[in-house]
Amino acid sequence: MPAAVLVGAQWGDEGKGKATDLLGGDVDYVVRYQGGNNAGHTVVIGDQKYALHLLPTGILSPQVVPVIGNGVVIDPGVLLGEIDGLAARGISAERLLISSNAHLIMPHHKALDKVTERYLGKSKIGTTGRGIGPAYADKIARMGVRVQDLLDPGILAKKIEVALTEKNQVLTKVYNRRGIDPAAVLEEYLAYAERLKPHIADTSLVLAKALDEGKFVLLEGGQGTLLDIDHGTYPFVTSSSPTAGGACAGAGIPPNRLTKVIGILKAYTTRVGSGPFPTELTDDMGEWLRQTGGEFGVTTGRNRRTGWFDAVIARYATRINGVTDYFLTKLDILSGLERIPVCVAYDVDGVRHDEIPMTQTDFHHAKPIYEEFPGWQEDISGAKVLEDLPPNARSYIRTLEEMSGAPISAVGVGPGRDQTVVVRPLV
Ligand code: IMP
Repeated sequence: MPAAVLVGAQWGDEGKGKATDLLGGDVDYVVRYQGGNNAGHTVVIGDQKYALHLLPTGILSPQVVPVIGNGVVIDPGVLLGEIDGLAARGISAERLLISSNAHLIMPHHKALDKVTERYLGKSKIGTTGRGIGPAYADKIARMGVRVQDLLDPGILAKKIEVALTEKNQVLTKVYNRRGIDPAAVLEEYLAYAERLKPHIADTSLVLAKALDEGKFVLLEGGQGTLLDIDHGTYPFVTSSSPTAGGACAGAGIPPNRLTKVIGILKAYTTRVGSGPFPTELTDDMGEWLRQTGGEFGVTTGRNRRTGWFDAVIARYATRINGVTDYFLTKLDILSGLERIPVCVAYDVDGVRHDEIPMTQTDFHHAKPIYEEFPGWQEDISGAKVLEDLPPNARSYIRTLEEMSGAPISAVGVGPGRDQTVVVRPLV
């Protein structure tokens, strides 16, 4: 059986939770492969709404084993809070597996995330302030604390001591903040260790065995393609690789196991935080999209920036990820518009670009070149099959499909689990 990757094709918040949920019945394992509690998935089941940040969406399906892969950075306090929150609603996280190689977000990562953003002033990234960047920075600098260190109190104490010897200097002398007490951190993390121990596993091995047994593994990214540390709008990106290539490294699965790359595309575009966004609408139309689409961050509650669909971005996502199928989400939000503009290329200082410009300087200057398509007035939220959609909605889908260069195999027409038009099976 295959492993499939689910990847955001824009700047995150495309509605990946709904796509994971759609595959529900077929999936045996759902693996988060990067990011941390900077992500936010909302899943609506019946009249219940679940906002997940760190836990893979599979946690909501009793037959699925949810896995937090080695590529994720984990804030253990947040993870346990999320587990407890679900338990209070009758959902057990007993099956959860956590990679022993995943890195931990430590108190100094959170302190540094906030203070460095403040120092950047107008140049700030607009991070979620959850310590994600500093935790990944320490991972790469080989100063990180890993989940497996929770199993060895001696090593944990030593690593915390070493890290804080340096970080406290930075916090107190560079940023004029209070230092962090290593003994208090050790005590806090040893308490987390007690609760997390039963979940810690060699998840790469577990997944390899599962695939050998013919199980279906779904790899779930946080964020989106344009927030990728290598392929996104650097430096206005997250500190890991949400793109499909990152899925293998972050889950410990070899590339030749992947058979499907499912891209999630919103029918318009949103972005949180700073950085270029060529189709951004800062007028009433942008506000209308925000209100109608409910574009407020699940994680931070921040207003999302909103704009029209950008086909240049979609084409890029198809290429970088090798998208085999798209799930187009939130098509219903566009109902009622007379005409729908789609960005087909950019004008950069008088020169047309059909692809993302090579340099960020040019990308910052990119002005959208729009083509307009006729809208539809009907309520489409009850559509079950393609034929239920008005002709203009169908032709909008076809247009996006042609422009993005990969088939749109499913279309979201409302937030509910059953509000999806499946054009062809995703797996
Ligand atoms: P960080 O991931 O907290 O370091 O934030 C870096 C950038 O990624 C900021 O622009 C955030 O707003 C953005 N970001 C991080 N996670 C998400 C997400 O789940 N959805 C959308 N944007 C995100």
